[in-house]
Amino acid sequence: MFVLTSSQMREIDRKASQEIGIPEVVLMENAGFCVFEEIKRDFETLDDKNIAVFCGKGNNGGDGFVVARYLAQVCPNVKVFLFDDNVTLTSKVFLDILKKLEVDINILSEELLSSLRAQRFDIIVDAIFGIGLSKDIDGLYKKVIEYINGSGAYVYSVDIPSGVCSDSAQIKGCAVRASKTVTFVYPKVGHILYPGSYYCGKVIVKDIGIPEKIIKDIKVKILTAEDLDISKFYRYPDSHKGDYGKVGIVAGSKYYPGAAALCSNAALQSGCGLCYLLTPKEVLYFQNFRRPEIIVLPVESKEGIVSFDGFVKFDEYFAKFDVLGFGCGLTKNKEVEKILIHILENFQIPIVIDADGLNVLASSRDVRELLASYKSQKVLTPHYMEAARVLDVDVKDVAKSPIDAAKKIASEFRAICVLKGSRTIITDGDEVFINILGNPGMAKGGSGDVLTGIILSMIAQGYSAFEAAKLAVYLHSLSADILLEKKTMQTILPSDIIDGLDSTIKRLIK
Ligand code: APR
Repeated sequence: MFVLTSSQMREIDRKASQEIGIPEVVLMENAGFCVFEEIKRDFETLDDKNIAVFCGKGNNGGDGFVVARYLAQVCPNVKVFLFDDNVTLTSKVFLDILKKLEVDINILSEELLSSLRAQRFDIIVDAIFGIGLSKDIDGLYKKVIEYINGSGAYVYSVDIPSGVCSDSAQIKGCAVRASKTVTFVYPKVGHILYPGSYYCGKVIVKDIGIPEKIIKDIKVKILTAEDLDISKFYRYPDSHKGDYGKVGIVAGSKYYPGAAALCSNAALQSGCGLCYLLTPKEVLYFQNFRRPEIIVLPVESKEGIVSFDGFVKFDEYFAKFDVLGFGCGLTKNKEVEKILIHILENFQIPIVIDADGLNVLASSRDVRELLASYKSQKVLTPHYMEAARVLDVDVKDVAKSPIDAAKKIASEFRAICVLKGSRTIITDGDEVFINILGNPGMAKGGSGDVLTGIILSMIAQGYSAFEAAKLAVYLHSLSADILLEKKTMQTILPSDIIDGLDSTIKRLIK
């Protein structure tokens, strides 16, 4: 399913009317009718309801006038509230119809708003702002939105809750908390990312008659099973372990032995043929937590952290690896930086860089330059804070426009960026996939190590870095969702996500 920005939606509207010749009033009529249909479907009867329709002066308000007209046909108690009589030309067509039909239309003021507090509406339609919201909401608009949120009514937002920025999902001053949002053509970024997503309630996407052929070059999609290539999950009867790839992982330290165990266990549990773990000798006491199938290459350490001199003794192994994972639990350290430089200068293996690998990347100009020119496939898996460090910006800037942040990282390093969060974003710098699976039970230390292991395993099994990242993000979060059938968000652990891969993969390839 595609996800649109406001400018793409405007372009689609423009093409529909100017190139195809579908008049704007037809699209507005269709949009308003779709919202009405949804309301009618939700309520057995409407004639006994008190309904308020709040309309802004833009085209979103025009959609609201259409909804009001249909509602007024089946319900005697419909009131329309306007901020301004000076509406857009297209909206005016429908406002004039309402006037001729003698629908109860009111111009909002502070006094009117005060008097509304004594009334009770069962249903409120929010058609104040749609994709045209351009600045923070204040004044009477803000008071009306606060009134709607405190009204106790069932609230329908037309297109997007007023106050949610359709491009960034940020809240501009305040926003309507909708019970349901009816949007058109495809969802917008503001419906999918947080915090906007919180405000939408259930999102319904309606076709308003825009021909599919003018919807082109949309590069943002919601990640679904249809976007995944599962062909390589088939295991041929005459195959052997070499056919499923060899993963090499450089991970762990005295301080984070579990990161190495989680990453390598996840790689193995998602299907690779062999998994080698280069980890400090001190981590060997953690042996019981690792799957016995993992081949451990114990590296001499400096105070529990992999040492460069110890690491280079294993150089000959690198010719074997189909993919290399670097960073989980290594700690940020000069030795770690030296090792990453050594890898980037001397090997040409697809690489997945996570955690401390990203911290080193953020702080070392040499690593940045080497990584940008590294010829093999690359996957970078930052969470928001790591992305902020890599981009040298405030984490708030990443949160405000995570898609742009992920694309920037992907472009700068010619890599696949997996920007991890409640909505993980996967991009090659051009195409973007947003994952909507998963749950807050995953918000625990170790989840990222598991994801890195799954990505590595997918690359080892022959997937491109982009395909591997998509598959891994999907499997990782689907596993956590399936676990919720038996466990709680409190009790799910990253190691459970690894165990859950069994039923997850079964479900995906069924
Ligand atoms: N405070 C006050 N007015 C604002 C603010 C704000 N914070 N932000 C925008 N406006 C004004 C703009 O100046 C403009 O007059 O609100 C109007 C834009 O409102 P929209 O209806 O959101 O934008 P518009 O482009 O007219 O219509 C887009 O129409 O196709 C339908 O519902 C669909 O969302 C879509 C909408």
